[in-house]
Amino acid sequence: MTDPEARLEELRALVAHHNRLYHELDAPELPDADFDALARELRALEAEFPEYAVPDSPTQDVGGAASPTFSTVTHAVPMTSLDNAMNADELRAWADRVARGLDGQVPTYVAELKIDGLAMSIRYESGELVQAATRGDGRVGEDVTANVRTIGDVPHRLSDPGGGVPDVVEVRGEVYMSTAVFDELNREYEAAGERPLVNPRNAAAGSLRQKDPAATARRRLSFWAYQLGQVEGGPDFTSHRETLDFIGSIGFPVNPEIRTFTSVEEVAAFCLDRQEHRHDLAYEIDGVVVKVDDLAQRELLGYTSRAPRWAIAYKFPPEERTTRLLDIQVSVGRTGRATPFAVLEPVFVGGSTVSMATLHNQDQVAIKDVRPGDTVIVRKAGDVIPEVVGPVVSLRPDGVEPWHFPANCPACGNPFVRPEGEADTRCVAPDCPAQRDQKVAYWASRGAMDIEGLGEQMVEKLTAAGLVRDPADLYALTVEQLVALERVGETSATNLVTEIDRSKQQPLWRLLTALGVRHLGPAASQALASEFHTLDAIREKSVDELAAVDGVGTVIATTVREWLQLEANQDYLERLRAAGLNFGDPEAALAAAEARAAIPQTLEGRAVVVTGAVPGHTRESAAEAIVLRGGTSPGSVSKKTFALVVGDGAGASKLTKAESSGTPIVPAERFDALLDDPDAVLADLTDAADG
Ligand code: IVH
Repeated sequence: MTDPEARLEELRALVAHHNRLYHELDAPELPDADFDALARELRALEAEFPEYAVPDSPTQDVGGAASPTFSTVTHAVPMTSLDNAMNADELRAWADRVARGLDGQVPTYVAELKIDGLAMSIRYESGELVQAATRGDGRVGEDVTANVRTIGDVPHRLSDPGGGVPDVVEVRGEVYMSTAVFDELNREYEAAGERPLVNPRNAAAGSLRQKDPAATARRRLSFWAYQLGQVEGGPDFTSHRETLDFIGSIGFPVNPEIRTFTSVEEVAAFCLDRQEHRHDLAYEIDGVVVKVDDLAQRELLGYTSRAPRWAIAYKFPPEERTTRLLDIQVSVGRTGRATPFAVLEPVFVGGSTVSMATLHNQDQVAIKDVRPGDTVIVRKAGDVIPEVVGPVVSLRPDGVEPWHFPANCPACGNPFVRPEGEADTRCVAPDCPAQRDQKVAYWASRGAMDIEGLGEQMVEKLTAAGLVRDPADLYALTVEQLVALERVGETSATNLVTEIDRSKQQPLWRLLTALGVRHLGPAASQALASEFHTLDAIREKSVDELAAVDGVGTVIATTVREWLQLEANQDYLERLRAAGLNFGDPEAALAAAEARAAIPQTLEGRAVVVTGAVPGHTRESAAEAIVLRGGTSPGSVSKKTFALVVGDGAGASKLTKAESSGTPIVPAERFDALLDDPDAVLADLTDAADG
């Protein structure tokens, strides 16, 4: 082990430095998780070696000192921080400490979302907003009243909950930026060529630091209240739940996702569940805060030097970490698009080990100015592909040079092109091997023809050997040809040939998807296939006819029409047909056309949304019945919806939407009647409502 005294000194300097960057300068360089790891290591070492203790260790601070831009506010009741639990065991250990502190009394726990924003204390005198202050070091914060007044969720005057408002009341909670606002602002910044905001929390903090309140207002911040500070002349409370109800009654938004539990195991289960669904929310959370509900019990438990013993922050695993950027490379996709990506020293983030991350496009690399050799922040949130957020500039070693986008395609050597006004750089060489390989790999991929055993490596072997130039060549491959390739055995060769052969029977929509027409994905392919039944029928349709299919639209219709008409693609299509691929069922196409002609078009141009079970129908057959009558069957209710059909297990959001937009609601039992004579059914509904 290294000299603990030296490591302690180093850690104190690091933690103090990053604390200052975070709290005073609003310019954090490290993701929270990296900072927390340093602070934890420091606390552990201090506990282990009390002989090296110093009085001014940063572990004694809650946050940072106030900045000179804003005047200071001394909090009447200090704003403490929270201790963290990094997993369920640490949560249980906290609950054990609580139980011991309460001498056998059983606590009720309140679990709340830990909003990833900025703590704020907002003071009202005689019901009027008089001051808003940041947490600062917990004792002294900054006066940001003018900026907080621009937040829509914060009332300028309190509502009377009945019985009058307190003479003095401080409402505390979290200022945050919703992910929608964050994304929108970043799109604007990107369009203007400006460095993007790193994450919603930084963005919220930066927004509150604006000298001009109008600038804060443009950032559209929000607020969730979760606590009271100083209160004079208000009602008496005995529990946290009561204070929350009170906070709601005076006009503050209180987060609805609050639960009470009596066992720590239930709390742990709730934490895990919220962790799994953290991205289903309109704002970011980084954990769950668990608090003892009973205020008398809180008294008993009291505080440590930095945090209450009656609460704990259960922290989710980090979604941002730092690591070393080893190299930047460019990959060329099946459409020729060149995507720069980062080669990273492997780092565990967002639940998995990441060694590559996208850099999106040429402009993104330039704006972020990441350079091989940099320490970079890597983000992996939920199912989203990992990305490089930006460099930690202060950790950049000497001599690290800016990176330049290559002028030529690394696969074929031809010059990249970038049409004016477009974000994408492309290789447009018709014979580029990277594009060819990607096309074949896409053809075989799970969402397209789903050919097992034909991954990128196998494709590269086949194309390098000259056996495959495009997907149509796959269907002529023999076992003998495959076994002649390096490291391909008899069994895998036979399996692959069988798999390729089997793919000839894949339904038409998979073939359509596999063609790789720009914009045409599986959903639109399915819509086209089920509407027109054969590839030839689709090829004959005009852009308007294609675009009229629900889920298609003009953009897709145009590229599909162009692709199917293009002279250069005719030979390719004929080779696929000759290989025996499923181009659809002409009899079904004919039957569908005849059936359509025979059925009265009662729903011509009308959109009918179905939710829940319809007696005598499956979801698909109900939609088909609507389409056969000239209607469409979209997945959601809008102002243009003709009617919403509601059966058992209906979705609440569709119902609410229909009610608020005045869309007629038809019980599922009347679905068949609606198909025959929709106007009569709606008239009945109106009569029933009037009568
Ligand atoms: S209670 C003494 N409740 O997390 C109790 N804090 O890591 C103090 N936070 O400083 C806070 N959501 O900025 C509480 N529902 C919530 C919270 C919450 C987010 C923040 C707050 C606090 C930090 C501690």
